[in-house]
Amino acid sequence: MGAGWPRAYKSKVVEPIRLPERGEREARLVEAGHNVFRLESNDIYVDLLTDSGTGAMSHAQWGALMQGDESYAGSRSFSAFRDTVRSITGMDYVLPTHQGRAAEHVYFSTVLSRGDVVPNNTHFDTTRANVLAQRGRPYDLPEAVAMDPDVDLPFKGNMDVDGLRSLIDEVGARKIPVVFLTVTNNTAAGQPVSMANVKAVASVCRQHGIPLMLDAARYGENCFFVHQREDGYAHHSIPDIARELFSLVDGCLMSAKKDGLGNIGGFIALRDPEGFARCREKLILTEGFPTYGGLAGRDLNALAIGLREALELPYLRERVGQVRWLGEQLAEEGIPVYWPPGGHAVYVDASRLLPHIPREKYPGQSLVCALYTEGGVRAVEVGSVMFGDAARMELVRLAIPRRVYCQEHLQWVVDTLCRVRDRKETVPGMQLVEGQGPLRHFIARFAPAD
Ligand SMILES: Cc1ncc(COP(=O)(O)O)c(C=O)c1O
Repeated sequence: MGAGWPRAYKSKVVEPIRLPERGEREARLVEAGHNVFRLESNDIYVDLLTDSGTGAMSHAQWGALMQGDESYAGSRSFSAFRDTVRSITGMDYVLPTHQGRAAEHVYFSTVLSRGDVVPNNTHFDTTRANVLAQRGRPYDLPEAVAMDPDVDLPFKGNMDVDGLRSLIDEVGARKIPVVFLTVTNNTAAGQPVSMANVKAVASVCRQHGIPLMLDAARYGENCFFVHQREDGYAHHSIPDIARELFSLVDGCLMSAKKDGLGNIGGFIALRDPEGFARCREKLILTEGFPTYGGLAGRDLNALAIGLREALELPYLRERVGQVRWLGEQLAEEGIPVYWPPGGHAVYVDASRLLPHIPREKYPGQSLVCALYTEGGVRAVEVGSVMFGDAARMELVRLAIPRRVYCQEHLQWVVDTLCRVRDRKETVPGMQLVEGQGPLRHFIARFAPAD
């Protein structure tokens, strides 16, 4: 079973995992209201709920933890972190936050007024919720191909540039305080955005005087796809590609729990000193002093190293290769997966795997529950439960934590999905019994539908 990538690391510390008996799994799922967010991790065998904050740190990062400077103000750890962010992004003004959504909250509360429109190739759920929390209007502008799970194109995460132009014409540039690009496009199946698309979006923004920001949670994986797939980038290093990417935008928000290879953390990086000053004031109110921003000094130290490690080619080759391998195995088994696989996750098309379950009975949630009862695998619904009526597809995301699982774990996931496929007619639809609002998926309760 050749996976086709050289492993970039070996294990030094291990964490035991356990597969509970089937009856136990069924009981735990009922107790959890058929919502896997409510399960305890001890009851999970392979946890693909998220790739966020679930990665394994390197020995260099663990070593750096011991040297964290926990000074309230002016800590060495902050300087190391800020210097790393500056050198990767070329942006001078850096504010740490405890995670990505805190960066979103701080940033949007300083730029949005009621009724403002925020275009994005596709908003992630917390980004959408943070725009809504400021009475803003999130507006998704994916290219039409993003909605086609079968067409094999290299950059299905791109923004629809004509759509952006039309939106600006329709609502007026004054109503759009910022445009966002999410790289990779998590909600559109983790698909990458091409450098050409970033350039085109940047040019429209510049023409209308609208700042362009990146949601940079997975920018490293995006840069790897540019390196692999976009003409003219095969001989560029990943840090050089990242530099070019950031040079096209005015700033970024980042959840460093992804391509920062940290278990916690995030940041805002900007070029504009005035925007920085506004964010800094808000940050002090909600996150903490600007040289720690809700993080411990040791976390900042770990991120200062993790951000660089996440741009190493052998690491990225293995990481993206692992995701691809899982996607290929599933496709070979006839499991309908969004194609091509993205950078951090494989997305199963639940409405095609379980065609007997209509949209209003949440096929994605049904599949998530079946994966847990069948094999102790935890995945997450990315469809009508997560996005309500705004959902464009009924997907289930199998997100791969960074540097954590090996091929045997992923083979188990393939086998589990095959067992669900073989008994798919017996998988029941779901009804929502508790939970509302744009973040309901985290806490909702469900029951099998009649
Ligand atoms: C694209 C994207 N943006 C923002 C966030 C929010 O980050 P955090 O979970 O660190 O708050 C996430 C989290 O998964 C994400 O995928």
